[in-house]
Amino acid sequence: MKRLDTQVGIVGAGPAGLLLGHLLHLEGIDSIIVEDRGRDHVIERVRAGVLEQATVDLLIEIGAGERLRREGMRHGGIYICFSGRHHRIDFEELTGGRSITVYGQNEVVKDLIAIRCATGRPLYFEVEDVRIADFESAPRIAFRKGGEEIAIACDFIAGCDGGHGICRSSITTQRLQTYEKLYPFGWLGILAAAPPGSRELVYSLHERGFALFSMRSPSVTRLYLQCAPDEDLTAWPADRIWDELTARLASDDGWCPNRGPILQKGITGMRSFVAEPMRCGRLFLAGDSAHIVPPTGAKGLNLAAADVWTLSRALAAWYRDGREDLLNSYSAQCLRRVWRAQRFSWWMTSMLHRAPGAGDFDYRRQLAELEYVTSSRAAMTSLAENYAGFPLQ
Ligand code: FAD
Ligand code: DHB
Repeated sequence: MKRLDTQVGIVGAGPAGLLLGHLLHLEGIDSIIVEDRGRDHVIERVRAGVLEQATVDLLIEIGAGERLRREGMRHGGIYICFSGRHHRIDFEELTGGRSITVYGQNEVVKDLIAIRCATGRPLYFEVEDVRIADFESAPRIAFRKGGEEIAIACDFIAGCDGGHGICRSSITTQRLQTYEKLYPFGWLGILAAAPPGSRELVYSLHERGFALFSMRSPSVTRLYLQCAPDEDLTAWPADRIWDELTARLASDDGWCPNRGPILQKGITGMRSFVAEPMRCGRLFLAGDSAHIVPPTGAKGLNLAAADVWTLSRALAAWYRDGREDLLNSYSAQCLRRVWRAQRFSWWMTSMLHRAPGAGDFDYRRQLAELEYVTSSRAAMTSLAENYAGFPLQ
């Protein structure tokens, strides 16, 4: 068996694990990252697209923002569409200049992997059978790589292994309180080779359900449709997808998304989930391993970034000054932001989706809410400041 030592063992090379690795590197703290999927799989996984102002500022500050600055698309607001009309919410004007940036999560991950490799610190892809042990006292991570058994001894473990990882499930259930809400619908998402026909995102509630228009570049559009959580993708040939998107997103003045070849499609379930506390001994959970939000508020990746920023501050204070207070307050500090984002994501989801079995009363109530949210300055400001996001501190 091969034995390795490090200060922080990080499980998972998604945005949380990779960003944490680099924040620690900048503090002179050593880490080893282990990831069970291959590098190409991690880089090509199409997921989030919206970065809050604070996430963009952080990536730039740590030197991971060069391509983001060049290729990221800065948006000063979004459109909300209902009853055939598009209404703009102007984030910049309502929040004193805050904006969002559209830049694919896979691009963020690609940039962070390149930066990690440049530091020369270890990042193992395609590891098997990852286990963690003794995280109350002397933490260890064990795994197999190319048939060889490897054990890492570390001071701390960061569980950045997403919603289906092993870190959270290694904590006995009595030590965690979990909160969950399932939604009776999912999203069918596509990536299409079509130039975006709107400069900004369009969130739409239509009688036939929710739809979202987003983008990845001047030639690639990203779109989502509300569907059943167990929807059969084979029942959705390209024409049906485009007809449905057009019906749900078109405005009375003739706007509708441009069509083009579909490059990729997939179904996503919708769930709200929180595990508390986000720490057990010397194991710290960060990102989707501790909490999941439905994607409507575009918060998941941003929450993951805020968690690992908080954790990196706490670990730096511990290594530099022997201070434990920030490690002790890590969970409570993150959970305040997490529950604020949970509330916002739940609210956006409930306002913009048609639940099966909900009647005409609910639909009319949703339309009244959308009317209010797009006409009252107070309501628009509340949406804008939550969507554009709050500063890290
Ligand atoms: P992950 O990205 O899940 O990374 C975890 C990593 O751990 C993975 O690489 C996984 O392979 C690895 N792993 C798992 N198990 C193990 C193991 N046993 N051993 C080693 N490694 C393991 N968020 C936003 O902020 N804005 C958006 O616009 C947005 N849109 C979204 C749209 C969709 C369709 C979806 C699905 C999600 C969206 N999200 C959005 C959410 C966002 O993608 C996630 O919140 C984000 O990926 C969380 O990052 P993470 O690093 O915590 O977890
Ligand atoms: C995207 C994803 C989201 O969940 C969202 O709310 C907005 C945009 C996207 O993939 O571009």
